[in-house]
Amino acid sequence: MQTSRMPRLLVVHHTPSPNLQAVLEAVREGVAMVAEVELVVRPALSAGAADLLQADGVLLGTPANIGYMSGALKHFFDTVYYPCLDATVGLPYGVYVHGGDDTAGALRAIATITGALRWQQVAAPLSLTGPPSRADLDACRELAATVAVGL
Ligand SMILES: Cc1cc2nc3c(=O)[nH]c(=O)nc-3n(C[C@H](O)[C@H](O)[C@H](O)COP(=O)(O)O)c2cc1C
Repeated sequence: MQTSRMPRLLVVHHTPSPNLQAVLEAVREGVAMVAEVELVVRPALSAGAADLLQADGVLLGTPANIGYMSGALKHFFDTVYYPCLDATVGLPYGVYVHGGDDTAGALRAIATITGALRWQQVAAPLSLTGPPSRADLDACRELAATVAVGL
């Protein structure tokens, strides 16, 4: 007999500063606006294939570091790529990147790797710079709710 469970959204994030912590809190609030979705939040350095294989969707969050995604999120992708390559085709995902002034390289790198994994982007990527404004935090809530509601 199969047991049914609520759809599960996995948030894989690297959160090394108060500004990114505020973003993560807004993401939690956005998911909480959607009923019947279980939220699992994992720091990118501790997330692994088991987390991803149990998820019905994923939200990626990272600072821009040296024109790329953080080493922490890159480590996550390095860890899960081959173990999850076949099993996660079509996985719905969203992404936010926070930077000092330029998130383009990080977003490009994430688009490349999620494309190779054949994940499905279900919300526009969110690019944030500097201290998050009220509108930025609203956008974080909306991103998270958009990914959650589609699961
Ligand atoms: C080693 C290092 C490299 C960084 N590289 C970039 C970068 O290439 N582009 C950018 O926009 N911000 C860059 N930043 C800024 C971080 O993205 C930023 O500190 C992070 O998003 C947290 O934001 P906060 O410092 O405003 O809290 C870098 C920060 C560090 C520590």
